[in-house]
Amino acid sequence: MKILSIETSCDETAISVLEAEGTFGDENNPPKFKILANNLISQIDIHEEYGGVFPALAKREHSKNLIPLLAKTLTEAKIGNPITKSNPLGNRITKWTEVEKILEREPELLKLFLEYIPTIEIPKIDAIAVTQGPGLEPALWVGINFAKTLSLVWGKPLIPVNHMEGHLLSSFASGKEFSISNFQFPMIGLLISGGHTELILMKGWMKYEKIGQTLDDAVGEAFDKVARMLNLPYPGGPEISKLAQTAREEKFGAPSAELLNQEIKLPRPMIHTDDFNFSFSGLKTAVLYLVKNLKEANHWKEIPLETKQTISQEFEDAVVEVLLKKSQKALEKFNAKTLILGGGVVANSQIRQAFRSLGNPITKLKVLMPEREFSTDNAIMIGIAGYFQYLKLKEKGQLQTATDLVGLKADGNLNL
Ligand code: KG4
Ligand code: ZN
Repeated sequence: MKILSIETSCDETAISVLEAEGTFGDENNPPKFKILANNLISQIDIHEEYGGVFPALAKREHSKNLIPLLAKTLTEAKIGNPITKSNPLGNRITKWTEVEKILEREPELLKLFLEYIPTIEIPKIDAIAVTQGPGLEPALWVGINFAKTLSLVWGKPLIPVNHMEGHLLSSFASGKEFSISNFQFPMIGLLISGGHTELILMKGWMKYEKIGQTLDDAVGEAFDKVARMLNLPYPGGPEISKLAQTAREEKFGAPSAELLNQEIKLPRPMIHTDDFNFSFSGLKTAVLYLVKNLKEANHWKEIPLETKQTISQEFEDAVVEVLLKKSQKALEKFNAKTLILGGGVVANSQIRQAFRSLGNPITKLKVLMPEREFSTDNAIMIGIAGYFQYLKLKEKGQLQTATDLVGLKADGNLNL
């Protein structure tokens, strides 16, 4: 079957088409995927000047990007054929008034929709998956309304997907073709993104139990806020990572603690607590005071680059140590042999390296992480999670189109 997937939860507009077959949990016929097309438009440049994602702007950009991205994706997947005389659309599509109603608040998207959709044949897809949440609601709504209209005019099932389930399953994507087999439960999932820091116990496919989470800031949020304190551009995660990397490569160039009149040492919050929760707000505040004290003690207006590098390195080390410790603890407690990472922060090189070396052939511990391109938001992960949901709904006879799902709403706080 073919699945079209749409992701608009934050500042990336992403659409993909996956060909999928097989069933999860069936070792004789495991899920297999082939990426037929995968496209993404990032809005980073647009949000950069605001120092963060501006929801109204994200919504507007999604409205503008969705149709061109869909056209490109369908063409690449070879299923966006123009209507011909021998294959006219005829009266197969009769839902234009309903489309106008659904896209009432997205006039730009509606205009592009009406210009493009009537010019192509109904594509040979079997379902449309769309991110329902969590994320920024105005941004989520655009994707959901768009998916609803496509489901309506094409008469295809609509599958609401949890963005975090997508992040968890993104580790299984590798290359253009991949299959998911030979996994033993329980597994532990560590989700680290701009809005989430969670440890998940997976007792089986699609059986999730949250065993811990951040009590305040998410890891990605801490990266972004610390970056702002160091006057680095948005998004801060990759910037901190670059500076920290330089500090590690040029150890001798880094200023010594005495020279800075201050020891650059940051706390490892909650590292020894007996639960699986996290806290990153204290770490962020510690950086705030460190920056303030360094500036005062050294009469600096701006922190010099080398010092920013040292701070970035120490901050990253603190984050890595806490994440590693808590993940190891969860693996031990639940006797799990597989750890899967997901979320934008998994793009961080230091985190990747630290977790990779946790994998161990002697203890048979497996650590899976998404390729860097699938760590941050993308539509492939929504397609994989969408396929799993599709199988579940199909089995229960509960596949529905937008006609039955008129009440489908964006849910900014959707839980796993
Ligand atoms: O998963 P994601 O793309 O969006 C959310 O669902 O939140 O994650 C975005 C987060 C941002 O906070 C960003 O700064 C962080 O991931 N991030 C990184 C890196 N690349 C992205 N954090 C640390 N190091 C990176 N290389
Ligand atoms: Zn995400």
